Amino acid sequence: MTTQQLSGTTAIVTGASRGFGRGIAAALVDAGAHVVGVARDGAALDEVREELGAGFTPVVADAADPVAAGQLIDRYQPRALVLNAGAAPLARPLHLHTWQTFSRNWEVDVQHAFGWTREALLRPMEPGSTVIAVSSGAALRGSPVSGGYAGAKATIRFLTAYAAEESRRAGLGIRFISVLPDLTPATRLGQAGVAAYAARQGMDAAAFAASRGPALTPGQVGTEIAGLVSDCARDDGAYLVNAAGISPAP
Ligand SMILES: NC(=O)c1ccc[n+]([C@@H]2O[C@H](COP(=O)([O-])OP(=O)(O)OC[C@H]3O[C@@H](n4cnc5c(N)ncnc54)[C@H](OP(=O)(O)O)[C@@H]3O)[C@@H](O)[C@H]2O)c1
Repeated sequence: MTTQQLSGTTAIVTGASRGFGRGIAAALVDAGAHVVGVARDGAALDEVREELGAGFTPVVADAADPVAAGQLIDRYQPRALVLNAGAAPLARPLHLHTWQTFSRNWEVDVQHAFGWTREALLRPMEPGSTVIAVSSGAALRGSPVSGGYAGAKATIRFLTAYAAEESRRAGLGIRFISVLPDLTPATRLGQAGVAAYAARQGMDAAAFAASRGPALTPGQVGTEIAGLVSDCARDDGAYLVNAAGISPAP
Protein backbone atom coordinates (compact mmCIF):
# COMPACT_ATOMS: atom_id res chain seq x y z
CA MET A 1 0.00 0.00 0.00
CA THR A 2 1.56 3.27 -1.06
CA THR A 3 -0.82 5.81 0.51
CA GLN A 4 -1.89 6.19 4.12
CA GLN A 5 -5.51 5.37 3.27
CA LEU A 6 -6.40 4.34 6.82
CA SER A 7 -4.78 7.30 8.57
CA GLY A 8 -6.54 8.27 11.81
CA THR A 9 -8.44 4.98 12.08
CA THR A 10 -8.05 2.13 14.57
CA ALA A 11 -8.16 -1.57 13.70
CA ILE A 12 -8.21 -4.54 16.07
CA VAL A 13 -6.51 -7.71 14.78
CA THR A 14 -6.90 -10.96 16.73
CA GLY A 15 -4.11 -13.50 16.54
CA ALA A 16 -1.61 -10.73 15.75
CA SER A 17 1.41 -12.35 17.41
CA ARG A 18 2.55 -14.40 14.39
CA GLY A 19 1.56 -15.83 11.02
CA PHE A 20 -1.20 -14.18 9.01
CA GLY A 21 -2.20 -11.91 11.91
CA ARG A 22 1.27 -10.41 12.09
CA GLY A 23 1.23 -9.81 8.33
CA ILE A 24 -2.23 -8.23 8.56
CA ALA A 25 -1.15 -5.95 11.43
CA ALA A 26 1.93 -4.84 9.47
CA ALA A 27 -0.09 -4.06 6.33
CA LEU A 28 -2.70 -2.09 8.27
CA VAL A 29 -0.02 -0.06 10.09
CA ASP A 30 1.61 0.54 6.72
CA ALA A 31 -1.73 1.87 5.45
CA GLY A 32 -1.82 4.35 8.34
CA ALA A 33 -4.11 2.58 10.83
CA HIS A 34 -3.37 2.28 14.52
CA VAL A 35 -3.53 -1.47 15.18
CA VAL A 36 -4.50 -3.09 18.46
CA GLY A 37 -3.11 -6.63 18.28
CA VAL A 38 -4.63 -9.35 20.46
CA ALA A 39 -3.02 -12.71 21.33
CA ARG A 40 -2.10 -14.78 24.41
CA ASP A 41 1.69 -14.72 23.97
CA GLY A 42 2.84 -11.36 25.34
CA ALA A 43 6.50 -11.86 24.39
CA ALA A 44 5.60 -12.50 20.75
CA LEU A 45 3.31 -9.44 20.74
CA ASP A 46 6.18 -7.35 22.14
CA GLU A 47 8.31 -8.44 19.17
CA VAL A 48 5.58 -7.23 16.81
CA ARG A 49 5.51 -3.91 18.66
CA GLU A 50 9.31 -3.62 18.25
CA GLU A 51 8.95 -4.26 14.52
CA LEU A 52 5.93 -2.02 13.87
CA GLY A 53 6.54 0.75 16.42
CA ALA A 54 4.00 3.04 18.08
CA GLY A 55 1.36 2.25 15.47
CA PHE A 56 0.87 -1.13 17.17
CA THR A 57 -0.60 -1.65 20.65
CA PRO A 58 -0.23 -5.18 22.03
CA VAL A 59 -3.05 -6.59 24.18
CA VAL A 60 -2.64 -9.96 25.89
CA ALA A 61 -6.06 -11.64 25.93
CA ASP A 62 -7.90 -14.79 24.93
CA ALA A 63 -9.76 -13.75 21.78
CA ALA A 64 -12.47 -16.32 22.52
CA ASP A 65 -13.31 -14.52 25.78
CA PRO A 66 -16.51 -12.53 25.13
CA VAL A 67 -15.63 -10.08 27.90
CA ALA A 68 -12.35 -9.20 26.14
CA ALA A 69 -14.26 -8.64 22.88
CA GLY A 70 -16.74 -6.25 24.52
CA GLN A 71 -14.09 -4.39 26.53
CA LEU A 72 -11.72 -3.89 23.60
CA ILE A 73 -14.42 -2.73 21.17
CA ASP A 74 -15.74 -0.29 23.80
CA ARG A 75 -12.26 0.98 24.62
CA TYR A 76 -10.77 1.37 21.14
CA GLN A 77 -13.94 1.95 19.04
CA PRO A 78 -12.24 0.42 16.00
CA ARG A 79 -13.13 1.24 12.41
CA ALA A 80 -12.01 -2.27 11.41
CA LEU A 81 -11.95 -5.66 13.09
CA VAL A 82 -9.93 -8.53 11.66
CA LEU A 83 -10.99 -11.78 13.34
CA ASN A 84 -8.00 -13.92 12.52
CA ALA A 85 -7.18 -15.88 15.73
CA GLY A 86 -7.36 -19.62 15.29
CA ALA A 87 -6.28 -22.80 17.03
CA ALA A 88 -4.01 -25.35 15.36
CA PRO A 89 -6.17 -28.47 14.89
CA LEU A 90 -4.93 -31.85 16.09
CA ALA A 91 -3.83 -33.49 12.85
CA ARG A 92 -5.45 -36.95 12.98
CA PRO A 93 -8.08 -38.83 10.99
CA LEU A 94 -11.65 -38.74 12.25
CA HIS A 95 -11.72 -41.93 14.35
CA LEU A 96 -8.61 -40.90 16.30
CA HIS A 97 -10.33 -37.76 17.58
CA THR A 98 -12.33 -37.36 20.78
CA TRP A 99 -15.20 -34.88 20.75
CA GLN A 100 -12.96 -32.48 22.68
CA THR A 101 -10.15 -32.58 20.11
CA PHE A 102 -12.59 -32.58 17.15
CA SER A 103 -14.38 -29.47 18.44
CA ARG A 104 -11.28 -27.39 19.30
CA ASN A 105 -11.74 -24.99 16.36
CA TRP A 106 -15.39 -24.52 17.29
CA GLU A 107 -14.44 -23.57 20.86
CA VAL A 108 -11.72 -21.13 19.74
CA ASP A 109 -12.22 -19.96 16.13
CA VAL A 110 -16.02 -20.03 15.94
CA GLN A 111 -16.64 -18.86 19.50
CA HIS A 112 -14.25 -15.94 18.94
CA ALA A 113 -15.82 -14.96 15.60
CA PHE A 114 -19.30 -15.22 17.12
CA GLY A 115 -18.43 -13.09 20.18
CA TRP A 116 -16.71 -10.25 18.31
CA THR A 117 -19.32 -10.23 15.50
CA ARG A 118 -22.10 -10.00 18.07
CA GLU A 119 -20.36 -7.10 19.84
CA ALA A 120 -19.84 -5.30 16.50
CA LEU A 121 -23.60 -5.47 15.81
CA LEU A 122 -24.65 -4.67 19.37
CA ARG A 123 -22.51 -1.59 19.90
CA PRO A 124 -22.97 -0.99 16.86
CA MET A 125 -19.70 -0.06 15.16
CA GLU A 126 -19.78 3.20 13.18
CA PRO A 127 -21.32 3.19 9.67
CA GLY A 128 -18.51 2.59 7.17
CA SER A 129 -16.78 0.10 9.53
CA THR A 130 -15.50 -3.26 8.33
CA VAL A 131 -15.39 -6.66 10.03
CA ILE A 132 -13.27 -9.30 8.32
CA ALA A 133 -13.34 -12.89 9.59
CA VAL A 134 -10.65 -15.34 8.53
CA SER A 135 -12.22 -18.60 7.36
CA SER A 136 -10.25 -21.07 5.19
CA GLY A 137 -10.18 -22.67 1.77
CA ALA A 138 -10.83 -25.86 3.77
CA ALA A 139 -14.39 -24.58 4.23
CA LEU A 140 -14.97 -25.40 0.54
CA ARG A 141 -13.12 -28.72 0.37
CA GLY A 142 -13.11 -30.27 3.85
CA SER A 143 -10.04 -31.23 5.87
CA PRO A 144 -10.12 -34.97 6.62
CA VAL A 145 -7.13 -34.98 8.98
CA SER A 146 -8.03 -31.83 10.91
CA GLY A 147 -11.10 -32.93 12.91
CA GLY A 148 -13.79 -30.23 12.95
CA TYR A 149 -11.55 -27.55 11.40
CA ALA A 150 -13.25 -27.26 7.98
CA GLY A 151 -16.75 -27.27 9.46
CA ALA A 152 -15.77 -24.59 11.97
CA LYS A 153 -14.32 -22.43 9.21
CA ALA A 154 -17.47 -22.92 7.07
CA THR A 155 -19.53 -21.78 10.05
CA ILE A 156 -17.39 -18.63 10.31
CA ARG A 157 -18.29 -17.87 6.67
CA PHE A 158 -21.98 -18.48 7.42
CA LEU A 159 -22.07 -16.37 10.58
CA THR A 160 -20.28 -13.52 8.81
CA ALA A 161 -22.92 -13.63 6.05
CA TYR A 162 -25.68 -13.66 8.68
CA ALA A 163 -24.13 -10.58 10.30
CA ALA A 164 -23.92 -8.83 6.91
CA GLU A 165 -27.64 -9.46 6.48
CA GLU A 166 -28.42 -8.10 9.98
CA SER A 167 -26.31 -5.02 9.19
CA ARG A 168 -28.28 -4.46 5.97
CA ARG A 169 -31.66 -5.03 7.62
CA ALA A 170 -30.88 -2.55 10.40
CA GLY A 171 -29.18 -0.04 8.07
CA LEU A 172 -25.98 -0.15 10.14
CA GLY A 173 -23.58 0.38 7.23
CA ILE A 174 -21.05 -2.16 8.62
CA ARG A 175 -19.43 -4.45 6.01
CA PHE A 176 -18.99 -8.06 7.16
CA ILE A 177 -16.64 -10.06 4.92
CA SER A 178 -15.04 -13.49 5.23
CA VAL A 179 -11.68 -14.37 3.73
CA LEU A 180 -10.75 -17.95 2.77
CA PRO A 181 -6.95 -18.29 2.50
CA ASP A 182 -5.26 -21.23 0.83
CA LEU A 183 -3.26 -23.74 2.90
CA THR A 184 0.33 -22.52 3.19
CA PRO A 185 3.42 -23.80 5.00
CA ALA A 186 4.40 -20.17 5.71
CA THR A 187 2.81 -20.15 9.19
CA ARG A 188 3.02 -22.45 12.22
CA LEU A 189 -0.56 -23.71 11.75
CA GLY A 190 -0.19 -24.16 8.01
CA GLN A 191 3.18 -25.91 8.33
CA ALA A 192 1.61 -28.53 10.63
CA GLY A 193 -1.28 -28.97 8.16
CA VAL A 194 1.06 -29.42 5.20
CA ALA A 195 3.14 -31.96 7.17
CA ALA A 196 -0.01 -33.93 8.09
CA TYR A 197 -1.40 -34.05 4.53
CA ALA A 198 2.04 -34.90 3.13
CA ALA A 199 2.43 -37.80 5.60
CA ARG A 200 -1.05 -39.09 4.72
CA GLN A 201 0.02 -39.26 1.06
CA GLY A 202 3.40 -40.78 1.94
CA MET A 203 5.19 -37.66 0.71
CA ASP A 204 7.93 -35.50 2.09
CA ALA A 205 6.45 -32.19 3.40
CA ALA A 206 8.68 -30.04 1.19
CA ALA A 207 7.80 -32.06 -1.93
CA PHE A 208 4.09 -31.92 -1.04
CA ALA A 209 4.28 -28.13 -0.55
CA ALA A 210 6.17 -27.71 -3.84
CA SER A 211 3.54 -29.78 -5.68
CA ARG A 212 0.93 -27.21 -4.66
CA GLY A 213 2.74 -24.34 -6.44
CA PRO A 214 3.81 -20.99 -4.98
CA ALA A 215 2.99 -20.61 -1.29
CA LEU A 216 0.77 -17.85 0.04
CA THR A 217 2.70 -15.60 2.47
CA PRO A 218 1.50 -13.64 5.54
CA GLY A 219 2.59 -10.48 3.72
CA GLN A 220 0.24 -11.23 0.81
CA VAL A 221 -2.65 -11.98 3.17
CA GLY A 222 -1.95 -8.70 4.97
CA THR A 223 -1.87 -6.69 1.74
CA GLU A 224 -5.14 -8.20 0.49
CA ILE A 225 -6.93 -7.67 3.80
CA ALA A 226 -5.68 -4.08 4.14
CA GLY A 227 -6.95 -3.55 0.58
CA LEU A 228 -10.41 -4.83 1.53
CA VAL A 229 -10.50 -2.61 4.63
CA SER A 230 -9.44 0.45 2.59
CA ASP A 231 -11.91 0.01 -0.29
CA CYS A 232 -15.53 0.31 0.89
CA ALA A 233 -16.77 -0.56 -2.62
CA ARG A 234 -15.58 -4.17 -2.24
CA ASP A 235 -18.40 -6.07 -0.61
CA ASP A 236 -18.67 -9.50 -2.21
CA GLY A 237 -19.26 -11.27 1.09
CA ALA A 238 -16.45 -13.81 0.86
CA TYR A 239 -13.09 -13.88 -0.91
CA LEU A 240 -10.54 -16.58 -1.72
CA VAL A 241 -6.90 -15.57 -1.16
CA ASN A 242 -4.00 -17.52 -2.64
CA ALA A 243 -0.51 -16.78 -3.95
CA ALA A 244 -2.04 -15.52 -7.23
CA GLY A 245 -4.20 -12.92 -5.46
CA ILE A 246 -7.77 -12.40 -4.26
CA SER A 247 -11.09 -13.23 -5.92
CA PRO A 248 -14.74 -13.53 -4.84
CA ALA A 249 -15.38 -16.98 -3.32
CA PRO A 250 -17.80 -19.36 -5.10
N1 LIG B 1 -1.85 -21.08 7.49
C1 LIG B 1 -2.77 -21.60 6.73
O1 LIG B 1 -2.48 -22.45 5.88
C2 LIG B 1 -4.21 -21.15 6.87
C3 LIG B 1 -5.08 -21.38 5.80
C4 LIG B 1 -6.39 -20.94 5.91
C5 LIG B 1 -6.83 -20.29 7.05
N2 LIG B 1 -5.97 -20.09 8.09
C6 LIG B 1 -6.48 -19.38 9.25
O2 LIG B 1 -5.73 -18.19 9.40
C7 LIG B 1 -5.73 -17.78 10.77
C8 LIG B 1 -4.31 -17.49 11.21
O3 LIG B 1 -3.58 -18.71 11.14
P1 LIG B 1 -2.00 -18.80 10.95
O4 LIG B 1 -1.78 -19.76 9.89
O5 LIG B 1 -1.41 -17.46 10.91
O6 LIG B 1 -1.63 -19.56 12.32
P2 LIG B 1 -0.53 -19.31 13.46
O7 LIG B 1 0.75 -18.89 12.88
O8 LIG B 1 -0.59 -20.52 14.31
O9 LIG B 1 -1.13 -18.05 14.25
C9 LIG B 1 -2.33 -18.18 14.99
C10 LIG B 1 -2.54 -16.88 15.75
O10 LIG B 1 -3.76 -16.99 16.49
C11 LIG B 1 -3.49 -16.67 17.85
N3 LIG B 1 -4.43 -17.38 18.73
C12 LIG B 1 -4.72 -18.70 18.77
N4 LIG B 1 -5.64 -18.92 19.72
C13 LIG B 1 -5.91 -17.72 20.29
C14 LIG B 1 -6.77 -17.30 21.34
N5 LIG B 1 -7.56 -18.15 22.00
N6 LIG B 1 -6.79 -15.97 21.67
C15 LIG B 1 -6.00 -15.09 21.02
N7 LIG B 1 -5.18 -15.43 20.02
C16 LIG B 1 -5.13 -16.74 19.66
C17 LIG B 1 -2.04 -17.07 18.06
O11 LIG B 1 -1.48 -16.33 19.13
P3 LIG B 1 -1.24 -16.88 20.62
O12 LIG B 1 -0.88 -18.33 20.50
O13 LIG B 1 -0.15 -15.98 21.11
O14 LIG B 1 -2.54 -16.63 21.33
C18 LIG B 1 -1.43 -16.61 16.75
O15 LIG B 1 -1.20 -15.21 16.79
C19 LIG B 1 -6.39 -18.91 11.54
O16 LIG B 1 -7.75 -18.59 11.78
C20 LIG B 1 -6.30 -20.09 10.58
O17 LIG B 1 -7.29 -21.08 10.78
C21 LIG B 1 -4.66 -20.49 8.01
